Amino acid sequence: MSMANFSWFTAGESHGQAIIAFVSGLPSGLKISLKEIESDLKRRKKGYGRGDRMLIESERAEVISGLRGGLTLGSPIAVKIANRDWQNWQTKMHPFKKPEGEPVVRPRPGHADLAGLQKFGFNDVRNVLERASARETAARVAAGSLARQFLACFGVQILSQVVSIGPVESERRIEKLEDAKTIEESPVRCLDKIAEKKMIELIDQAREKGDTLGGVFEVVAFGVVPGLGSYTSWEERLDAQLAFHFLSIPSAKGFSLGDAFENSKKFGSQVHDEILYDEERGFYRLTNNAGGIEGGVSNGETIWVKVAVKPIPTLSTPLRTVDIEKREVVFAHRERADVCAVPAAAVVGEAMMALVLARFYRQKFGGDSIFDALKAFENYLSRIDWKR
Ligand SMILES: Cc1cc2nc3c(=O)[nH]c(=O)nc-3n(C[C@H](O)[C@H](O)[C@H](O)COP(=O)(O)O)c2cc1C
Repeated sequence: MSMANFSWFTAGESHGQAIIAFVSGLPSGLKISLKEIESDLKRRKKGYGRGDRMLIESERAEVISGLRGGLTLGSPIAVKIANRDWQNWQTKMHPFKKPEGEPVVRPRPGHADLAGLQKFGFNDVRNVLERASARETAARVAAGSLARQFLACFGVQILSQVVSIGPVESERRIEKLEDAKTIEESPVRCLDKIAEKKMIELIDQAREKGDTLGGVFEVVAFGVVPGLGSYTSWEERLDAQLAFHFLSIPSAKGFSLGDAFENSKKFGSQVHDEILYDEERGFYRLTNNAGGIEGGVSNGETIWVKVAVKPIPTLSTPLRTVDIEKREVVFAHRERADVCAVPAAAVVGEAMMALVLARFYRQKFGGDSIFDALKAFENYLSRIDWKR
């Protein structure tokens, strides 16, 4: 798919000097707030069940290119998030000096550790875990924040909540923008107060046992225009692009558009969203079981996805593994770790949603400046008579 007009990369090791996000293809003239980037980074750091690494991680971001006077120049934007603990890691992680200290030789089950050693020919697990670590997702959140600020110009708003942790399920789903306040105030990003209490208790139990938990989060995008993505070629489908991007989040193992797995157990008459029309709302649906996408194309309803997150693989009561030097069974290496990161993963999910949608908006509405893009957008809205 030709998406060359919007792309993004990340760089950086978990205990390296900094994590970098690089975004190219945003139009010129877009107002960017550093405060918003930092507030998104702060939201990713939060969540009951996160480890003490969060006390060290910085949520300070530095924009080092692509902006002038708070406005985008149309050139690539690089954002740097420095590692506050770099002084303590320089001797182990210096780009040129021989690393000091013992190599890590006990690969952790559930991580890229062993396969990474084999693949790249390393004899120190640290060479793998530093980049495979979810610290990289801080850069995604910074890039996602730029995408989110772009999308806000088109009236798109993205929210996430935790739907379950372990077996504890929330009875509530995100329905409106105003739900954001309750979610942000919840230590587990959950709208359902009864479930929230049980989730916290479960996380405490897991921590006491040296164990970990996973769960499910949902991400919604309000105000997405109909017509993003295409059924005309497989890789242009919006649902497929979302699945790909969401499954690139470390520990994300399952993806569904809306309640896809529950819907698969029902009759068609119970699932498909009837089309209605009235003067005030234009075309709309009675329900949104499709999660806002049909035939790979957004249909004007809220985009709604759910993602299953596996339990954190680093356990403080470690599982067995094999010492790669001695070839003896030992307990796995223990790196500073979270007990549960589903709330944080949900914030990363918001970033992925923003990055995917920003790509599709850039593709559909083009323009070198934000004013060109908005003009094309308004033109399209009046052609399809879409009421937001
Ligand atoms: C926000 C976030 C925080 C995470 N924190 C940890 C952690 O502290 N310890 C850990 O072992 N895994 C953590 N993970 C999960 C691992 O990064 C992930 O399971 C691992 O890299 C293996 O990749 P895979 O689960 O996609 O197979 C976290 C994931 C996310 C999204």
